[in-house]
Formats: sequence, structure tokens, C-alpha cells
Amino acid sequence: MKLNEIIPWGRTLEEYQLMFNLSPANLELKILGCGDGPASFNAEMTALGHSVISVDPIYQLSGEQIKQRVQNTYESVVSQVRQNSDRYVWNRFQNADELGQSRWATMERFLLDYEAGKVESRYQYQSLPNLEFDDHQFELGLCSHLLFSYSEHLSLDFHLDSIT
Ligand SMILES: C[S@@+](CC[C@H](N)C(=O)[O-])C[C@H]1O[C@@H](n2cnc3c(N)ncnc32)[C@H](O)[C@@H]1O
Repeated sequence: MKLNEIIPWGRTLEEYQLMFNLSPANLELKILGCGDGPASFNAEMTALGHSVISVDPIYQLSGEQIKQRVQNTYESVVSQVRQNSDRYVWNRFQNADELGQSRWATMERFLLDYEAGKVESRYQYQSLPNLEFDDHQFELGLCSHLLFSYSEHLSLDFHLDSIT
């Protein structure tokens, strides 16, 4: 997969649970999602009564602009997955198109929640490594498909500062 930039590409609550091995007790914590982008994690968690604040530089954009950015990314990502499909484990999706459709549905779920979430400060325009929160404001920090995924774009210092 060759990506020229960090792409807006989002996953669901269930995928976050699987990626981070989140237990029911973990879901009750005050969670900070770093680089949640167009994931539906915050929307789904909020609907279930849980507490998540997501930070991402794309939250400076309108919902329509984010949708446009996902649209611009879509064909490049899905076609690269299709071309390299033998290098993926297909136990969750059958093929690249099903994966793409799922990502698109996830973004639509996110967009339905985006305006309300901005008003409630659940989607904040902030960027790693410097975040404007109080110490101990959160009990769990999550970050998927940003740190360690873009080592050509983000330096070692950026990684260390973000984790710190
Ligand atoms: C591939 S998406 C991952 C979205 C989500 N975490 C997921 O796994 O579904 C990467 C996200 O990182 C965001 N991002 C890029 N630079 C960032 C930074 N310095 N701080 C926080 N987020 C950043 C991008 O805008 C993008 O939405």
C-alpha cells in the first residue's frame, strides 16, 4: 500500500474493540481517541452512553469537505487492496469492494453524528503531539492507523512526543 499522505479512513466500534482488545470495563472509561478521523467509534460509543472525545486535524473541515476527502482517497486505497488482495487476510471481509463499502458506511455513520458531536466538543480540532487537555482528564487513550502506520511521514520524535 503506497500512500502519499495520511488518509481519512474510518473504522467501527466493533473494529476498535477487536483492534485494541477492549473489554466491557474498558468501554466505561473516559476515552481519548487520537486521530479518529471518520471512524464511527465516537458516534457508536456516545449512542451507547459512553464517554469519548476524538481529536483530529480534519475536524477543522466541514462534514461535506471530509466526505470529499474520503471520496478522493477511496479509489486509490480500494484499488491497491484489490491488486494486492493475496497479501491480506480475508476473514472479516470477502474482498476489497466489501471492505470499501464497509468503510464508506462507517464514514456515513460518522457524518450523521459530526455536527452534534462538534457542538458537544466530542470532535475537536487538535493534533498530536500537543493536546490541550488537563493531566488525568482521560483514563484510556486510543490511537489506530496513525502512529507506526506512517513512519515515512511522521518522525521518530513525533511518535515519542505523541506517546508522552
Ligand atoms: C487512517 S485514519 C485512522 C482513523 C481511525 N483512527 C481509524 O482507525 O479508523 C488517520 C487519521 O489520523 C489523522 N491525523 C493526521 N495527523 C494527525 C495528528 N498530528 N494528530 C491527530 N490525528 C492526526 C488524519 O487526519 C486521519 O483522520
